[in-house]
Amino acid sequence: MCGIFGYLGPRNDAAHMALLGLKNLEYRGYDSWGVACKTDHHLEIEKHIGKISEVTNLKTELEQADTHLAIGHSRWATHGGVTENNAHPHLSQNGKIAIVHNGIIENYLELREELSAKGFKFVSETDTETIGHLIEFYYQGNFEQAFAKAIQRLQGRYAVLAIHKDHNLILAARKGSPLIVGVGSTENEFFIGSDVPAFLQYTNRVMYLDDDQMVIIGENGAYFLEISTKQVVEKRIITLDLDLESAEKGSFPHFMIKEIMEQKETIQRAINQDTKTIEILAEAIRKAHGTFFIGCGTAGKVALAGSYLFSRIAKKHVNFTFGSEFASYQDFLNEKALLVCISQSGETADTLEAIEVAKKKGVTVASIVNVESSTMARTSDIVLPIKAGPEKAVASTKATTSQLAILTLLAYATANRLKEGQYLLVSTAGEINDMLNPRYEDHIRKLADQIKEVESMYIIGKGLNYAIALEAAIKLQEVSYIHAEGFAGGELKHGPIALISQGTPCIAIVANDETKADILGNAMEVKARGGYIIGISPDNSEIFDYWIKVPDGGNTSPIVNIIPIQILAYHLAIVRKNNPDMPRNLAKSVTVK
Ligand code: AGP
Ligand code: GLU
Repeated sequence: MCGIFGYLGPRNDAAHMALLGLKNLEYRGYDSWGVACKTDHHLEIEKHIGKISEVTNLKTELEQADTHLAIGHSRWATHGGVTENNAHPHLSQNGKIAIVHNGIIENYLELREELSAKGFKFVSETDTETIGHLIEFYYQGNFEQAFAKAIQRLQGRYAVLAIHKDHNLILAARKGSPLIVGVGSTENEFFIGSDVPAFLQYTNRVMYLDDDQMVIIGENGAYFLEISTKQVVEKRIITLDLDLESAEKGSFPHFMIKEIMEQKETIQRAINQDTKTIEILAEAIRKAHGTFFIGCGTAGKVALAGSYLFSRIAKKHVNFTFGSEFASYQDFLNEKALLVCISQSGETADTLEAIEVAKKKGVTVASIVNVESSTMARTSDIVLPIKAGPEKAVASTKATTSQLAILTLLAYATANRLKEGQYLLVSTAGEINDMLNPRYEDHIRKLADQIKEVESMYIIGKGLNYAIALEAAIKLQEVSYIHAEGFAGGELKHGPIALISQGTPCIAIVANDETKADILGNAMEVKARGGYIIGISPDNSEIFDYWIKVPDGGNTSPIVNIIPIQILAYHLAIVRKNNPDMPRNLAKSVTVK
């Protein structure tokens, strides 16, 4: 959660750069924001609640300040409400130190009591405020030393940046939350951010801070240290193959629709990569004594779909669980087990924690990720990138279908039928390209208009498309705020059918496979109770009140079926006047537990 930006270098409008950097990170957290910069004599701070995208300039003192050093933060509140006081940066008691922080300090109450007893006064409800006071408490002229001492007192997951009014330094530390240093084009120019888009307009050359390390960014360079031993760590500068354009909206009104439309190419890109890693992972799955597919939210639903793909295509049982539930399985883990993590960001705390649990048991860890430079990718033994390009809308769309495509290919590879899988996916990619045309979008837009006032809707699927019914519900909830629930079609009659009344929309995902008759039967049961049936299917049926045609994808039906629901969710958000890119209460990357 949250976006962090820092700059130290020759440019003299660091505060304004922080504002721009935060705008590029707003998808990570957007309830409030703030900037602190250092001028010759003091720290200037500005913070507000609300969306940073609506702000063009900072207050005059910061805009006009001749400043070469600034930090900024866009918040996703965990401790304390969304107020100006709780927004970051937070100052130490003497006002000399400013802090921005992503994550949760688990022992903050204990630290707060300790510091209060020493006379420190707290002005916010956040866990973050303890960090500034703690650094002040340890400070005896050496900022780096005080920072390191304070960080060693913290428990939990965090990324922290600190600046001091008397030092031309940005100090940063991380544990579990990402921080990336950007190396500028001129000598001794450095950026730091929680994600590369923060500074991509200035540089694509980066160095990664790892857990339990700190970086001292100063006028003479950036130095990385192990926090506990103070040992210097040499870092390689990595040039990232990312361009600014792919991280921008272009002519689309929102990232969500841009990313939905990009599915014309992204599935092809996912499967076009070198098959070596796919073969390696397939072999690891064949050999493993216990394979676990995990993910959270949408990625969790993809993991569930993966377990169905594997039993159908590879005739292989894999276990599924959500990242946050994985620890309950730890007694069954040993060094012959395999954990396959599915994640867009590669920074989801629940999944990262599952990796820690698995590693302690000697389990091999593989990840299927979009962000190749993420913590997940860097801590996995096998990394299968999905190559979807930057996904910025909070609601995952193109990453979802690319993950599904990779899992389908992997299931075929595990069954030693990789070529067959490739042919099938290439043909599906072509059909999706044809499907995503303006007429198709318009047909779905009309449906959105028709059902925009409903209070609840339900989605049913079976077999390969059961997980897609669950994913459809997440998509609709996230951006339309309509109560939506997904079910296995056969489960309705065991309870949920009581929720159906006259006109309740029910999306039936009807694949052209052995589940077709059953799911049509379930749709009929809903219709008999007054439900309005929206059929997503290659063929029309008299049961459907509204039909959305999809290509007959066979084993790729999960990929083709989720796309019209993504479009429906987007258009429901638009007609209900919600911002689909920044839905309330959510953030793109969930880096807290
Ligand atoms: C997707 O639409 C959601 N925003 C969310 O469920 C997301 O999939 C989940 O937080 C996992 O994120 P990850 O793929 O980056 O790990
Ligand atoms: N826990 C901190 C807060 O509530 C940081 C949250 C964040 O990551 O944005 O302010």
